[in-house]
Amino acid sequence: MLSVRNLHVTLGNRQILKGVDFDLKDGESLVILGCSGTGKSVLLKSILGLIPKQYGKIVVDGIDIDQVHKDERSKILSSIGMLFQGGALFDSLPVWENVAFGLIYGRGMKLQDAKEIAIDKLTLVDLDKQIALLYPPALSGGMLKRVGLARALASMPRIIFFDEPTTGLDPITSNIVNDLIVKYVKHSDLGAITITHDLTCLRKIADTVAFLFDGKIIWTGSIQGMDCTENPYVRQFIDAIPIGPLTTKKHLK
Ligand SMILES: Nc1ncnc2c1ncn2[C@@H]1O[C@H](COP(=O)(O)OP(=O)(O)OP(=O)(O)O)[C@@H](O)[C@H]1O
Ligand SMILES: [Mg+2]
Repeated sequence: MLSVRNLHVTLGNRQILKGVDFDLKDGESLVILGCSGTGKSVLLKSILGLIPKQYGKIVVDGIDIDQVHKDERSKILSSIGMLFQGGALFDSLPVWENVAFGLIYGRGMKLQDAKEIAIDKLTLVDLDKQIALLYPPALSGGMLKRVGLARALASMPRIIFFDEPTTGLDPITSNIVNDLIVKYVKHSDLGAITITHDLTCLRKIADTVAFLFDGKIIWTGSIQGMDCTENPYVRQFIDAIPIGPLTTKKHLK
């Protein structure tokens, strides 16, 4: 479904990604782990073209996105839904218009049709219809995550990216959001990449786990593989050990 090769991204004078390689198979749910600030969000944004890459190859359904006309590229990339880490909702637009934004302004859909789809997606993520007319500042964190999820689903994507879908939520709301993700990802042919620090979320939704460190994916495996790996970086992360190879570099800086 998605293949990323040798992806390099530099922001300012810092090289954030130094040759990321991975594949997302049909219907697979891939979870990317890594310490804060290692470039996980940058990775998703650079695949979507929201942050420019220095070089690297991105292939979606067999099409190298740099080898096609920009209109075709936009069309391919708009088939990827994204739940942004910070929500990225417009405070000045009502919830339904946030959810329908891509349909109206990206695909030129009529307002009324887009509104119906938005309300349908809000219902899918267990939000009341009346929420559609409210503005984002009036919603709780858990509601905002669900609105973000509804927006990511609105364009009927084949691939969906979730950037920290449960961060900042209480354990029960986290679990509800996790279950919604499982419902749409695990039991469908949607391909998904999720970034999370939430190990409950990881265990619920991942088919495959990839570990990002120092600008590269340094380990990939299943949940069972992760539980018994002796890779020192993954071990330190999963066991939450303060001192080890992940933190040594930082101490030296
Ligand atoms: N638009 C930008 N311009 C310049 N630097 C950026 C930009 N976006 C991210 N960075 C830098 O890139 C690095 C990686 O950021 P990123 O947000 O990808 O981290 P992350 O792995 O998602 O962290 P977290 O787990 O805390 O969300 C950080 O040092 C950040 O300051
Ligand atoms: Mg991030």
